[in-house]
Amino acid sequence: MHTRLATKDVTRIMDLSPYEIMPLVELGRELKSDIRSYKDHFAQRSLVMLFEKPSLRTRVSFEIGFARMGGHAVYLDHEKLRIGERETIADYSRNLERWCDCIVARTMSHNTITTLAANATIPIINALSDIHHPCQALADYMTLVELGFDCRQHQLAWVGDGNNVCHSLMELMATIGASMIVVTPEGFEPSADIVRDCQARACRTGATLRHTNDVKKISGSFAVYTDTWRSMGQSEKVAKETVFKPYCVTPDIMALAGSGAYFMHCLPAHRGHEVVDAVIDSPCSVVFDQAENRMHIQNALLLNLLTTPTQDSLGKNTTRTLPTTRSRP
Ligand code: CP
Ligand code: NVA
Repeated sequence: MHTRLATKDVTRIMDLSPYEIMPLVELGRELKSDIRSYKDHFAQRSLVMLFEKPSLRTRVSFEIGFARMGGHAVYLDHEKLRIGERETIADYSRNLERWCDCIVARTMSHNTITTLAANATIPIINALSDIHHPCQALADYMTLVELGFDCRQHQLAWVGDGNNVCHSLMELMATIGASMIVVTPEGFEPSADIVRDCQARACRTGATLRHTNDVKKISGSFAVYTDTWRSMGQSEKVAKETVFKPYCVTPDIMALAGSGAYFMHCLPAHRGHEVVDAVIDSPCSVVFDQAENRMHIQNALLLNLLTTPTQDSLGKNTTRTLPTTRSRP
């Protein structure tokens, strides 16, 4: 079933409603099983990818995914010259929307994403910022659904830094009404603003979000999720190894979660730091399923965000119509 997203942009999970997430996952699973009927769907459509930080999974999954649906992606490397340095971010949006149908952006500052979105008539997809990583969280939820995660009875455990990936997973769990326990060292908690937004949404959806510094509290979790202790762009001056060491996901920590708990990581992994080989290479690890699902869920997102713009006599995109997704038989 195809969703018609109410939002123009996906800057964070909170842009999506509780009713939009499951249909997106269902479409992602449909595309994963067979994408052939969409092979020309985005013919003559273009995606521009603005990246201020390195990427393997996000870049490759967006480029290959869009190409498999007939579209064309252009990658702009902004690792040296940041977006907004050569001309304003607003002017960037106003230029790009004349040529392309969607912008996928990975930025140092989340403000760059929201400024691009505020100044473009075309959809902006956040491909990771300092605060959010919504495409990752959607792929992770798709992976959890494949594994049988039931938001009425299962809990997801986060162990490590309260970072961008953690924020997006919290927003997702709050949106679908699930339980999540976030375990971080003291001083590395998730942002208080994000926690407040998540608790407000949890009040409406019945989600349970808890935070602790005590890793023993993860008992009974469906999956244990961790990520790097030092996200891209974070200062190398803050010493983290000592304070984070008790949060390294080892077989003992997996045993605390319970037998049968899955291990999750957005990747890239820093083996021997946030996770040891004996966990990430074990049968309980689903990290490459998560990586694969990035492409399928992003394709679902693109199908539901991209519009057929009608053009006025000057060639300027002036209106948005409903997504041109294939109708189901
Ligand atoms: N998980 C993820 O976003 O990976 P990349 O940084 O390689 O895109
Ligand atoms: N938290 C990590 C995620 C990488 C995909 C970072 O921002 O570097």
